[in-house]
Amino acid sequence: MRVRRCAVLWLEPREVAHFELDALLSGGTGVVSRMQWFAHAPQLPAPVEVDADDLALLGELSPLDWIAAAQLRERHGAARVRGLLVAGLLVGSTKPWAAQREADECFRSQRWHGLASVWHAASRWDGIDAAGEVEAAGMRTAQGLREAYGAPPPMLHERGDAKARIALSRAGRTAFDDVLDARATCRNFDTTRPLPLTLFAQVLERVFGARGRVRGADDFDVLKKTSPSGGALHPTECYLIVRKVEGLQPGLYHYRAGDHALQPLPLDETRILADAGRHASMQDKGALDFLAWIAVGGQQWFADAPVLCVLAPRFGRNFWKYRNHPKAYRVCILDVGHLSQTLLLSATEQGLGSFVTAAINEFDIERAFGLTGIVDGPLAVCGFGMRAEAMQTYELDPNRKAWSHRTE
Ligand SMILES: Cc1cc2nc3c(=O)[nH]c(=O)nc-3n(C[C@H](O)[C@H](O)[C@H](O)COP(=O)(O)O)c2cc1C
Repeated sequence: MRVRRCAVLWLEPREVAHFELDALLSGGTGVVSRMQWFAHAPQLPAPVEVDADDLALLGELSPLDWIAAAQLRERHGAARVRGLLVAGLLVGSTKPWAAQREADECFRSQRWHGLASVWHAASRWDGIDAAGEVEAAGMRTAQGLREAYGAPPPMLHERGDAKARIALSRAGRTAFDDVLDARATCRNFDTTRPLPLTLFAQVLERVFGARGRVRGADDFDVLKKTSPSGGALHPTECYLIVRKVEGLQPGLYHYRAGDHALQPLPLDETRILADAGRHASMQDKGALDFLAWIAVGGQQWFADAPVLCVLAPRFGRNFWKYRNHPKAYRVCILDVGHLSQTLLLSATEQGLGSFVTAAINEFDIERAFGLTGIVDGPLAVCGFGMRAEAMQTYELDPNRKAWSHRTE
């Protein structure tokens, strides 16, 4: 057998603290910390703890050139080599290591920049009730944040001598100002009325639909959309959790940008409900309700939306042009940000509430929609629908533009 190192490896020296009663009884705080090494390899589900001897072995190996495993076993011992193969930090050429090798090869084929891929992998959540954690820490209100962190950096930023400032004219208002001013992150959806299909379809068409097409070169068509996209590649797909839309079966869908249509996708209720079992408050929810809740990190005020849109780039489409490029992942994130703003404004223009959040459980979403996180994966979730009559959860609408006809 031959071996090589996995494609990307980043080693983190981490101080890990734990509580020990003996340390408390002998007069200390009880908190004992020690340094540990963690190996981050983005094709793996989590960082792997390694020791100094593992580091020595990994530091000898190329991620490109294969060497005979026998040589390595001689120098470092068979158990150590086997342990790193099992973990997926080493890649073996033979059949028993096919799963790890395929994961590594799939990762290589996408052309991620190394550090961007490590950051992306480290930022994905699995089953986190972020809303519950924030609530428990007393950090949900501005007052709670102020008490915990002190005052934030100033709201306005001054540069240079204010006396040298040049006052600017204020343009007259147009209908576009009304749309801009009426946008407010919606945390109070009407859970009783279904969203009309025509509004649902219109928002999707405006945000994700193709408005035109140009032939760039042979086998290279370029779509025109309402948001900009780095390299005009439009890598971001829209996956939908439809909960309450008129005339549509609740379930999972993929939006087809080319022909403005919905592709129904299977919903694995058994798998999703098994995940729900980990959350005491969610055990009697249906699969779709749980998926909506966990997708947005336990934020029920967003999960109540009649439709949630998962924004998930196909990374390899962007990285086809921007190969192993240090800015390519940033471009994918910016693309998603543009799409979300277009969605928020499109929904607002129709009198609908809308939101975007990055506090999402990527792993849960990936499992539900059959995404890998490496080839394609969610960076944000948006939602839209009718606003409720009364505001139960806070919204930032000081000029009462979104809530002009409603009660607080
Ligand atoms: C990238 C991004 C992530 C956000 N994530 C959350 C979130 O997890 N939960 C939430 O309640 N609001 C979230 N928001 C909404 C912001 O809290 C909101 O934009 C801000 O309070 C300003 O209010 P406005 O959107 O009504 O102007 C997010 C906004 C952005 C742009």
